[in-house]
Order: sequence, then C-alpha cells, then structure tokens
Amino acid sequence: MSQISNRQAKKLSDYKAPEFTISDVELSFELNPEATLLTATYQLHSASGCAGTLTLDGQELKLLSVSVDGQRLSADAYQVTSEQLILPGLPAKAQLELKIELNPKANTALEGLYLSNGAYCTQCEAEGFRRIAYYLDRPDVLARFTTHIIADAKAYPALLSNGNLVHSSLLADGRRHVTWVDPFPKPSYLFALVAGDFDCLKGSYTTGSGREVALEFYVDKGNKHRAQFALESLKRAMLWDEQTFGLEYDLDIYMVVAVDFFNMGAMENKGLNVFNSKYVLADQASATDTDFFNIESIVGHEYFHNWTGNRVTCRDWFQLSLKEGLTVFRDQQFSADMGSRTLNRIDAVKTIRTAQFAEDAGPMAHPIRPQQVLEMNNFYTVTVYDKGAEVIRMLHTLLGQDGFRKGMDLYFKRHDGQAVTCDDFVNAMQDANGRDLSLFRRWYQQSGTPELKVYSQFDAKKREFKLLMQQHTPATADQAEKQPLLLPVRIELLSEGRSQSYLLEMTEASQEFSFAVSQQPVPVLLADFSAPVKLQYHYSLAELLQIAREAKDGVARWDAIQQLWQLQVKAAIAAQHSGTDYQLPAALLEFYRQLLLQPLDDLAFTAELLTVPCYDMVAEQFEQIPVQEIVQALQGFRQQLAEKLAEQWLFCYQSLRSEAYQYEQQQVAQRALRSVCLQYLCFVKDQGLLLQQQYQSSDNMTDQLAVLRACRNSAHPLFASLMSDFEQRWQHDVLVLDKWFNLSASYPHPTVFSTLQQLTAHPQFSWQNPNRVRAVFGAFYQQNPAMFHAEDGRGYQVLADVVLKMDAINPQVASRLVTPLLSWKRYQPARQQQLKAVLQTMLSKDLSNDLYEKVSKSLS
Ligand code: ARG
Ligand code: ZN
Repeated sequence: MSQISNRQAKKLSDYKAPEFTISDVELSFELNPEATLLTATYQLHSASGCAGTLTLDGQELKLLSVSVDGQRLSADAYQVTSEQLILPGLPAKAQLELKIELNPKANTALEGLYLSNGAYCTQCEAEGFRRIAYYLDRPDVLARFTTHIIADAKAYPALLSNGNLVHSSLLADGRRHVTWVDPFPKPSYLFALVAGDFDCLKGSYTTGSGREVALEFYVDKGNKHRAQFALESLKRAMLWDEQTFGLEYDLDIYMVVAVDFFNMGAMENKGLNVFNSKYVLADQASATDTDFFNIESIVGHEYFHNWTGNRVTCRDWFQLSLKEGLTVFRDQQFSADMGSRTLNRIDAVKTIRTAQFAEDAGPMAHPIRPQQVLEMNNFYTVTVYDKGAEVIRMLHTLLGQDGFRKGMDLYFKRHDGQAVTCDDFVNAMQDANGRDLSLFRRWYQQSGTPELKVYSQFDAKKREFKLLMQQHTPATADQAEKQPLLLPVRIELLSEGRSQSYLLEMTEASQEFSFAVSQQPVPVLLADFSAPVKLQYHYSLAELLQIAREAKDGVARWDAIQQLWQLQVKAAIAAQHSGTDYQLPAALLEFYRQLLLQPLDDLAFTAELLTVPCYDMVAEQFEQIPVQEIVQALQGFRQQLAEKLAEQWLFCYQSLRSEAYQYEQQQVAQRALRSVCLQYLCFVKDQGLLLQQQYQSSDNMTDQLAVLRACRNSAHPLFASLMSDFEQRWQHDVLVLDKWFNLSASYPHPTVFSTLQQLTAHPQFSWQNPNRVRAVFGAFYQQNPAMFHAEDGRGYQVLADVVLKMDAINPQVASRLVTPLLSWKRYQPARQQQLKAVLQTMLSKDLSNDLYEKVSKSLS
C-alpha cells in the first residue's frame, strides 16, 4: 500500500490563498530521452511580505541542485519528500533556481514530459507540471513563462512552447537553442513543450480588428493533407467567437500538435494546443462523418478555452466546471450553428441520460463543483463537463441570448487575467442582468438527478388546463439531503393542430401552473430538454405519436419516440417473464412506415426517429438493470421492425443515392439515414450482395463502416471476410485500425473472449497507447453489453485484469476503464457478487490514487 499521506482527499472548504506567488518563470530544457536536464528559475514573492517556508509540489523528479539568490544550498537546507520540496526561511522576495533531471522515456503515465512516437510532448492539466519541476502547481499562481529548448537540430526541427518565438540559434555541437516567451501570465497547467520532426500545415487568420494570426498544425510526416479540415474548423471557430461573444485571439501564433499517445481528447495550452491525433487527422477515405464532426467540435472547444479557461482561469480545481462546463456549452452552440441545432441537442441529451445519469446513480456521484477530491484526474467527468454545460445552458435559457452575452461581457471585464470561482461567474450573470440567482446556485453544490413528476388536469367548464409539477432529487452516494432547484421548464400545449410555447420557472418542491384554453391540450413537457432532469408523466401511445408529429421543438418530437420505446421495453420484458411474444403496436409501425415512405426534410432527424434507443439509454431507466432482458427486447424490436417494414427499408435505402463524398450537412444526413436502413435490412435477409456492393463501391469511410456495423449487428457471414479485408487495407494506419479493433471487441458473441486475447497480441496493439486500449476494452464494455455482462462473470474478470495491468502503466486510463465495474449495486444479486469480488481483489492490491479513490468508494 502506498503511503497513507498519498490518500488525503482535499476539500474545497480548505482553500487558502498561496503564501508565496511566482511572477516570472524561466525554464531551460536540454532534451534527452532518458536524462533531460531542466534548469528552472522562479521569481518568488511572499504574500505577507515576510520570510517564510516555501512548499513546492513535485513528483517523480530527480533534484540535482537548489540555489537561492545565486547561492547553492546544501542538502540540509531543504527537505525533499515524494511529493514536495520544502524550503524553510525563504526571503520575502527571492530568486530560486532548481536543476532537475527527467526521464521522459520512462513516462508511460503520459502526464508531465513524455515521448510520443519519438516526439517530446507535455500534458500538465491538472497536476502534471509537478512531474516536470517542483512548483506551486495550482491554478491560482499565474506567472510569465520564458522557455528555452535545446535539442539536436536534425532530429527535432520543431521546438515549440507557449507564446512567441523570440530566439533561435544553432549551437556548435549541432543542437539548436530556441526561446519562447509567453506574455500572458498563466498557471502551470497551461504550460506546454513539444519537440519533434513533423509536417506542418500552415494557414492564417485575420481577426476582426485586423491582426494577422499564423495558424500551424504539426502532424506526423505524410499526414499534412489530413489536417486541412481541422485548420478550416479552427478558422470557423475563431470567426464564431468574434461574432457570438466579441472575443478575439490574442497572440500572433496559434499552434496545434497532433500526437498519438494522449490520455484525453485535447489540451488548450496557451498558444500551443496538444491534440490526440484522432481529433486532428481526417480525410474521406479514413474518417467518418462522426470523426469530422468531433474534430470541428474539439478544435472549437480548445480554441474557446483561450478566453474561458486561459484568460480567465480557475482559482482551484474544484472550480473546474467554471471553464469546462462553460466551454462545452460554447462548443455545443458553435456546433449547432455550424450544423443542425436539433441534432446537436439530441446528442447532448443522450450523453446526459446515459453516462451522466449513471454517474449520479453510482458511487462517484458529485456536484458539478465537487467538494472533495483525492485524485483530480478523476473529476474530468460527464458531470463536470456535460452537466456543467447544462447548468450554463439553463442560465442562457433564463436570461436569454442577450442577457447571457451581457453576463459574459461583465465576467471578462471583471476577471480578465484572474483565477476565479464559479460564484464569480454567477455573480457576473446576476449583476449584468439585475436578477437574483441565489436559488440557481444550488446547481453548483447539489449532486444527483432531479426527478420531475407532472400531472395534468383539464376543467372544461372553466376552460382551464393545469399542470401540477413536483420535483424531488433522490439521495446520492455523496450527499443525503437535497433541496428543490430552480428548473426552467419549456413546454408546449398542442391543441387543434396548434402549438403554444411557454417557459415555466419551477422554484418549489411542488407547484401548479394553469393555462386558459378552450380544448384539452396535449402537453409537451421539457421541450429542448430545458433542464437535466428525469421527467415522469403518463402519456398514452396516441399522445406520444401526436407529439412526435406536431410539436414545434425537434428535441421534444424525438423525445416522444424515446419515451414510446421505453414503454415498449417495459412491456416486452413483462411479456418475456410471462413467456409470451411481444408484438409492437400497429400505430408505431404505421408511424415508421409513413416516415420511411416520406422522410422528413431533415433526413438526419428522420434517421434519429427511426433508431431504437441504445442499450445504455434503456438501462438507465431501471433502478436495477435487467441486462439480458433489455438486450433481448431491443434485438426483438429491431427484428420486428426489419421484418414488418422490409419493403420500406429497401425502398428508402434505394431512394437515397450516394454522391461523390463531401462532408456537408445534406450528405451527412443522407448517409445517416441510408445506414439506418442498412442495419435493419440485414436483420431479415442475407443482403450479401448489397453489403458487398456498398463496401466495395463507396468512396468514404462512413459508408464502409456502416457495412461492417450492419454485419456485426446481424452476425452476418460476411463479417469475418470483410473485417480481414479491412485489417489488411489499413494495417499501417493505426487510427483507422482502431475502428477495426472496436468492431472486433464489440462482436456480441462468446467468441469475443478469445478475440480480445488475439487483439492484444496484434502487432499494432500497445498497452502504452491509450487509444488502442480504449479501442479494444472501451468498446468491449460500452458496445457489447451482452458479453461484458456474460452470465458467468467472465466479462467483469477480463476488464478487471486489464484495469490492474493498466494501473501500473497509466493510472488515468485504468481509472476510466474501471467505471462500469463500480456500479455493482445496479445489478441483480448474482452479478453484484461477481462485481464485488473483482473490486475487492482490486482493493487488496497496491493501487494508484486514481483507482483507489473509485474502487474504495464503490465498496464503502
Ligand atoms: N482541459 C482539457 C480539455 O478540455 C482536458 C484535460 C484533461 N486532463 C486530464 N488530465 N484529465 O478539454
Ligand atoms: Zn475543456
């Protein structure tokens, strides 16, 4: 077991301003794979103006020397522990110089300075800078950074850091020395360094005020053309932020580096973003429409951080949602403006209803502003990010676009250059709009998924329609007591072919709203998913279909079909238990038939309506999840739809022509609908010819992958041969091969267990590369519920073994993979026992803090 001191959780309530600050930092790196030499010089200032003890954070560092104001200290003048460097009696104003040796090659955690395919790169958020140097590694210490990089000029033509390049010279020994200066004071988590041999795609952008910004994308050799879309996305994001929020870029250069080894999606380091290559590289042959979409959204996300995150940053890590919730909201608005608002909203709703609701219901439940953290990396969650974005969205809904903009303007006016709190943000919104938001603040401190129960009543005599609403948030693992929240509830009342919209503000546990009407309306509740809650209202099948046809809000129309399917699942499971066959209602089939014969103008929306909800979406509706029953019910639905509408699927499929590929809304929508049709078609007949035809003749990855998915879902005999063709074709392109890994690991058949073993022996598989590990084991638990939850518990064992193996290599990856094992309470007793057993075994091992925090919570 690691030292007990490693296991001390930090509390938000313990926040103290730093006793020393650092105004200027000078870093000088002499790069070497196993022995990089770093000289770090800091200008320190004590806050009190008195001498005192300086305590710096540091991990896995080899400290060579310490000097204060030019005087080298003897080893007994300071103290080094596994996590700190302690310097007693430091003068109120001092210059500290540290010499440190680093071993990037041994760094498989991919935090701090590490090697990715031979290139040096860094990841410092949240607390990775302390793996580079002893430092005040906290976001409220903002300093100006100057970075020198010295490295072999031939092997590392690109030597990059934050800010502007101010010096470059060739040394006599064949090394190059460059100097970068970042004029904007920043916390250490935004520091970045990259050194390597890349291809560079260059572009430029002229800001609204006429400043020219150089844009540079650094990618692996030979991949320049695949960065074009990311570059264009960046320009769109820059323009959008000027137009929407009046925010311009502030440096002369914006660089993005794509690396293969990366723990997350991307990182917004000032002026030098580092991206997982999968979110930069794309062309029609190798990337799907979804890949293109994700690239635009993540490029946007990191760019938007320049204001919401970098110019105004977080006081402490409990405030993470200050920058992440807000920036996700901004990237969602950007994506909506670039494409379809409704489809983007549906995507966000899916994330909340699956992963976020599951997090609330599990042992790691936390508010968007957590109160207690052992390992910060465990709190880069769907709650902080996506529920955080929902909270910002509710403010936007309550204040309107203009009010929200006023609040943003005031926020930047007050806090540019500062490290602030979520409260500061809400204060700006409140003051700019003259509106009391005290009740709204509960969203920041309360965890859990509110349940909103609605009852209606129509009084024909009084011509009055009433909605009685009750909200209740069940206790969560972290918090027993809950209070009522401010819920913006968008509704529509449908009556006589008309729809009337309202925005209700619910502030009490129970509230009644009445409306003057002439006829009994059908209420459309929670339109646009205006609050991240679980809604309960007793709709009839006919009412849901009416909403699907007549509501103004697209999200509500889609949601009606979702609710309809949830009712079918319950009915089908009841039928399973009584040993009878379940037949889908004729009205639902008829709705689908019509939709196929005459798709809506928005084909992508049509495709969404025609898709049966995924396993996760259904599972989240159950307190105790009947895994195999859900899998069986969903499969039965697909089978019935396929059989009963066989002609219509084919008709619709054939009516959609494929044109020469472009990533463009109309085409994306066509491909989405065609792919839905193809999935159903495969359930009835051996569509071998059609599958072969689409696979061989299509000019893009989206359509090819659709064929492979259809084959996998229907266990088609072609699956094996097409998969091996695909593997051959893409064996040298790991990003594409990840799609093959993913499909292999999600094959819903017991053969998958031997497949998993073969996959990890594949020449392109590497335990060191998070993308590979996720492509195999992430896919296994996320997309293969039937096998992951196999009756004999094999799936759990496989994942548990991988988690333990990964914990020694890369704790962040291990800690994400363990997620599905934690919610053992959600399953039937036999599975509970199996899951608990693997978790208990895990807890008996020497775990990282990352894993320890989650596993111990789940067992307590
Ligand atoms: N700030 C980055 C982003 O927006 C994520 C960095 C996460 N890092 C981590 N170690 N968990 O999206
Ligand atoms: Zn972010």
